[in-house]
Order: sequence, then C-alpha cells, then structure tokens
Amino acid sequence: MKRPLHILTVIGARPQIIKASAISRAVAGPFVGRITETILHTGQHYDANMSQVFFDELGIPQPQIQLGAGGGSHGQQVARMLESIEERILELKPDLVLLYGDTNSTLAGALAASKLHVPVAHVEAGLRSYNKAMPEELNRIVCDQCSTWLFCPTPASVKNLEREGFSTAPVQHPTIDRPLVLLPGDVMYDNSMHFARLASTRSGGVVQALGLRPEGYLLATVHREANTNDPKRLAAILDALLEAQATHGIPVVLPLHPRTRKCLGSHPDALLRERVAAAKDLHVLPPAGFLDMVDLERKARLVITDSGGVQKEAFFFGRPAVVLRNETEWVELVEAGQAMLVDADPERIRAAIDHFMHHSLPKVPALYGDGDAAERICAALLN
Ligand code: UD1
Ligand code: UDP
Repeated sequence: MKRPLHILTVIGARPQIIKASAISRAVAGPFVGRITETILHTGQHYDANMSQVFFDELGIPQPQIQLGAGGGSHGQQVARMLESIEERILELKPDLVLLYGDTNSTLAGALAASKLHVPVAHVEAGLRSYNKAMPEELNRIVCDQCSTWLFCPTPASVKNLEREGFSTAPVQHPTIDRPLVLLPGDVMYDNSMHFARLASTRSGGVVQALGLRPEGYLLATVHREANTNDPKRLAAILDALLEAQATHGIPVVLPLHPRTRKCLGSHPDALLRERVAAAKDLHVLPPAGFLDMVDLERKARLVITDSGGVQKEAFFFGRPAVVLRNETEWVELVEAGQAMLVDADPERIRAAIDHFMHHSLPKVPALYGDGDAAERICAALLN
C-alpha cells in the first residue's frame, strides 16, 4: 500500500491558525489515510487569545511542534524561525511544506523549505497590494517564488501571478522552477461557512452579552503596522471611530489586537487615551475568539477594518466594509461595491460610513469559490 503524503504545516499568526483548520478537517475527513499532517507553530502569536483559543474552540489538532519564536524585530523573528524550521524539516523529512498567507512565519517556512529542496505549497498565492512598504507584500512575493504549488483564492490573484511571468498552464510534475498555479477558491470561505453554522448553535454569544442588538453597532479592528506604529494614523482612526459613534448614535465594538493595545497605551496624546477610555459606547475588548468574531461580524451594521480576513468575512456575512488602507489584496470586494478604501483619512472614513449607513449593498455572486477549497487543495497535492 502507498504510504500517506506527509505534509508539514507551518503556522504562527492568528489568521493562519484559523485558515489551517480547513485543511486539517479535510485531512481528518475525506483524505484520512492518504495524507498525514504535522503542525508546526512558530509562536509568532503567543497570547492565549491570539493562539490557543482557536485550537480549543475550533477543534484544530494541537501543534506537534512549538518554536516559541514570537516577538522582536522582523529580522530577529524571521532568523529565529528560519533556524528552527530548518532543523525540524531535516528531522521530519516531510514530502512538502504547507504555508498560508504572508506573515513572517510564511517567509521563514518558504526560505527554510526551498533551500532544503523540499517543495512548498502556498495557500493564498498571488495576492498583491502593490505596496512594498508593507512587510506582508515582501513576504508573499518571496513565498510565491519559492513555491511548487500556488493555490490562488481569486481570479485576480491568478492574474497577478501571470503578470509576474508565472505560467497557468497545467503541469504534470510541478517543481519550484515549473510550479503549478491553481484556483481552488478561498479556504476562509470554507471556514466561515463551517464555523458560522457552529456559532449559530451556541446560545447567548458576545453580541447579547454586550447588551447590543443585531444591526445596532459598528464592528472595528485595527492592527496593521502602518496604522499602529504611526501615532498620527492611529489617532486619526480612533478619532473617526469616536466621531462615528457620536454622529450616528451607535455603539462601536473594537476587539483590540495586542500590538494596537500597546501602541494606544504609549500614545503621546494623553487626551486621546482618556477619551477612548471614557467613551461609554466604545466597547474596547480583548481579541475575540473566532466564534465570537463570527457572531460580531454577522450582526454588525457595518465593519471598519484594516484586516485582510475581516474585510472578506464582512462580505461573506453580507456586511459592508470600510477598509482603513489605501489598497487591498481583495480588489474584487471594492469593484463589487462591498468595500470602500479610506486609508486613515478622517474625511474618507466619515464619507464611507455615511454611505454604507444609508445605502444597501448591491447583490453580487460568490467571489471566493464554492466552499470546497480545502478538498481541492488536498486533491491537487495528492495528484
Ligand atoms: C502579524 C502579521 C500580519 C497579520 C497579523 C495578524 C507579519 C509581518 N505580520 O502582524 O500580516 O495581519 O499578524 O494578526 O508577520 N503581540 C503580543 N501577543 C501576541 C502577538 C503579538 O503581545 O500574541 C505583540 C508583540 O508586541 C509583538 C507585536 O504584537 O511584537 C506584533 O506582533 P507580530 O506577530 O510581529 O505582528 P502583527 O502585527 O501581529
Ligand atoms: N479575528 C478573531 N478575533 C479578533 C480579530 C480577528 O478571531 O479579535 C479573526 C478574523 O475573524 C479573521 C482573522 O482573525 O478570521 C483575521 O486576522 P487578523 O485581522 O489578525 O489578520 P489579517 O487577516 O489581516 O492578516
């Protein structure tokens, strides 16, 4: 009998843990016996509410390997991860290394595996912001160049790869020099549908616990390096949230990423810190578990975010997204009128919130596949 395909999955940041759950379900379900998975957690995210909660809540297998390599500068973080991932690949000899998205964990995994000639499969290949000042843009470009399988979530991401010279022709035996580009859809669409069903079977939920009613609040998240490290941008965003809450007489829920909490805590504008702390209808929460997040997203009047994942989930749940960036990798959301790019510009934030408070969303077809991206990815890897 043929031995199962051994995948080493490298994860580390919150969204990667959530994304990986779709493939882990497929490996434990339709592909059991044909694929085995070893999960390596770099430790990029380490607080319980940024990591462990997802394993506990979402039934994701516990990682067999924990590197504890979080914190520090980009260089320090990637260097620590690179060294340890290399050791583990040499020890485990996996058939391939599976990577998600565009974080420092993705970059370290891509470099470690490709230098050891172990093939890389990249989930969320081809996404581009065309802004190389973002650390994520560099990470995803390098990872795509190191990959043998490029699993694109959207037609736009396939086009980006074509523009960079990747061939999208079928390849029988893909290699790093002749990679296979496929469009299986988005594993986060699979996950959102799966976990939304789970979230709806829970009683209570965070929205009820906060005393809020469906459509009766705005949901916001902020964590991008550019929006948090720059005190002016962070102040402009928080000011805009306070203003939206006052103008529209609607509470704002803000589950805060630890990076943002730290930047707010040390913000030079003491008055801003006081106004945020005192605002009765600004609910500043710790990072939410995913089931709570799904509850919050599904019932929000609209979503204001700089997160890649959250802007898409807003769409999955029929909510408009005001995107606190000047560009997005998920261009189809903007083209379809589901999201507006506003940067950290108070005027544009105000106008977009006004627009979505007064106009309903246009109807659009599904943009992110059929909800079976994980199965398609597993099938392609087995082929
Ligand atoms: C990372 C990713 C980003 C992704 C985000 C998801 C990179 C370059 N960035 O950004 O693409 O959108 O994760 O959330 O990989 N911290 C804690 N506790 C934690 C995690 C982080 O306190 O559990 C604090 C630490 O001060 C840390 C800082 O947040 O230094 C930044 O964390 P890091 O993982 O480097 O970057 P993120 O901003 O989380
Ligand atoms: N998320 C969560 N709790 C939160 C904020 C986000 O579970 O408090 C989930 C969110 O639903 C999405 C993912 O984390 O699935 C997005 O991660 P994040 O915004 O940190 O990073 P990005 O997607 O921008 O890389």
